Amino acid sequence: MPSLTDSHTFSLPSSCSFLISVTDTNPISLAALRSTHFYLLGEGSNSIFVDDFEGVVVQNKIKGLESDDLNDVIMLRVGAGENWHDLITTCLKNHWYGMENLALIPGSVGAAPIQNIGAYGLEVSTFIESVEFIELETGAKHKIKSNECRFGYRDSIFKNDLAGKVLITHVNFVLPKSNYMETSYGELANLNAPTPEKIFNTVIGIRRKKLPDPRQWGNAGSFFKNPIIDKSLLTQIQHEYPDIPFFCISKTLVKVPAAWLIDKLGFKGKVLGGVQCHPHQPLVLVNIGSATGKDVLEFARLIMSRVKEKFNIELEPEVRLIGRNGLIEL
Ligand code: EPU
Repeated sequence: MPSLTDSHTFSLPSSCSFLISVTDTNPISLAALRSTHFYLLGEGSNSIFVDDFEGVVVQNKIKGLESDDLNDVIMLRVGAGENWHDLITTCLKNHWYGMENLALIPGSVGAAPIQNIGAYGLEVSTFIESVEFIELETGAKHKIKSNECRFGYRDSIFKNDLAGKVLITHVNFVLPKSNYMETSYGELANLNAPTPEKIFNTVIGIRRKKLPDPRQWGNAGSFFKNPIIDKSLLTQIQHEYPDIPFFCISKTLVKVPAAWLIDKLGFKGKVLGGVQCHPHQPLVLVNIGSATGKDVLEFARLIMSRVKEKFNIELEPEVRLIGRNGLIEL
């Protein structure tokens, strides 16, 4: 059975029945997929294999970058198997600005729209013009516009109606030359005369300082989403914790940092089996070398139940957990 340990950044000991790569949109390779129990993988930075998966893992390795310089925008068509950070670096070198806030996010270009990756005040959906994919059932090629992708906070149609049904082949980006810079978030707000290069370097600096390097310590970035709760619940929590940070989402809803909730419960730096709650960023669970899938599930469930008990908030995983038969819910 092929090992999956090196195919996902959490690096748990795990395997699958078959591991194959897709490098083009050749219908033969996809025909084989249609009838099989399978899981589509990019660079494995948001998927954790907590058990041996009884099916085919398909790694998306479709490459390529085409650019088109139009009057006031740059259009890019990028293969889903390209590395995300390499794309951001190439963009900067070519003065195709806008996506610097998303530097150093691990993973592939094709995975970016699936969970609408975001960081430091920007989400990738802002720059997506359309997404191209193959419907696995029929082999038909489709292209849908950004407004059809149903982008939300770490969410899209690819995580819902189209989950497991399509293979993303290309992402089309539109980068306006008017060069809008998003610098409202945290340390970016302190930049003196911001430029895209300064934003890029600052974001890389913050991420390197706060987030563990998966090549050193296996991890999958934020383990949980930041929960969106009712303002009335926030008010209740504020009685005991007036310092709880929050961001208004609408008249009645606020988003609170999961990192803060987990920190308040004293999980920071704690170890369960081979898993540690990261000492600098408690939203990240880390494989300290000997983690098993059971450790990951136990620790995640413990954190979720304590958060529910103390704050009456249901945390939702941001990562995808794959068990013997496919995706598992916590
Ligand atoms: N906090 C604590 N204790 C800590 C650390 C943080 O209380 O030890 C609180 C602070 O109040 C801080 C807040 O948590 O202000 C937010 O922390 P941070 O700015 O690091 O961001 P985050 O909400 O934890 C989100 C994304 C990250 C993204 C950063 C930066 C999610 C689930 N995570 O994290 O995305 O890089 O913002 O924009 O939305 C990822 O998706 O894998 C990821 C890393």
